[in-house]
Amino acid sequence: MNREEQITLIEELQNSLPMDKIRPAIDEYSELMTKYNCAIKEVRTKFEVLNDELSIRNQRNPIHAIYSRIKTPKSIINKLERKKLDFTLENIQNEVKDVAGIRIICDFIDDIYEIADMILKQDDIKLIDYKDYIREPKTNGYRSYHMIIEIPVFFSQGREDLKVEVQLRTIAMDFWASLEHEIKYKKDLSEDLIDAVSSQLLECADTISHMDLQMQDIKDKIYPRYPKKE
Ligand code: GTP
Ligand code: MG
Repeated sequence: MNREEQITLIEELQNSLPMDKIRPAIDEYSELMTKYNCAIKEVRTKFEVLNDELSIRNQRNPIHAIYSRIKTPKSIINKLERKKLDFTLENIQNEVKDVAGIRIICDFIDDIYEIADMILKQDDIKLIDYKDYIREPKTNGYRSYHMIIEIPVFFSQGREDLKVEVQLRTIAMDFWASLEHEIKYKKDLSEDLIDAVSSQLLECADTISHMDLQMQDIKDKIYPRYPKKE
């Protein structure tokens, strides 16, 4: 946590706790975030292992990049507020399912489904929820495959099951989502401009989707069907 994040946290805790309880609460919060960070490491390693293995088997890397992040105190506080829940460790663990987030960028749409399937087949992974915004894109054009999974992490005191949000998308979908995200958080745009830009973005989403399918078609022509069996 950086200084700014710590200040946000202290301000929030001051609303509900006496002064002498704030320091221990921050320590507990940091401990929980460290655990989520470990969960991210475990999940990341699983994807890296698959990528390494598949690259030998298929002579190409299905995963282009992996990004991860821990949700900031500010957005955890906001999410709990939206759900009308108190800021407690219990509520964070049970109700905020994207404290730990990992984004897997694939070259092709097929890779997304293959890799998601392979991860879910691993017997220490539990699927909590998923949303297929590729088969059913959002009305704004957003496409990605989302999963909330639970993974056991072994600490000195024993095992803890932690939730991790996994977003899988193609390079093109990621390009689109980044720009759309930027526009969403720009405060100084007029209504008219937002309308115009939104419909332009929707058009781009269609173009991208068409391109992703064509790229996959080309890939299928030059590489063997995947996964290649011995
Ligand atoms: P959140 O409360 O935002 O977590 O939404 P949710 O619980 O309904 O989950 P959902 O799976 O719909 O979205 C989770 C995450 O996916 C978001 O936090 C974003 O990172 C991403 N996402 C979802 N919709 C959009 C979108 O329209 N545009 C962009 N750029 N990202 C999106
Ligand atoms: Mg979210």
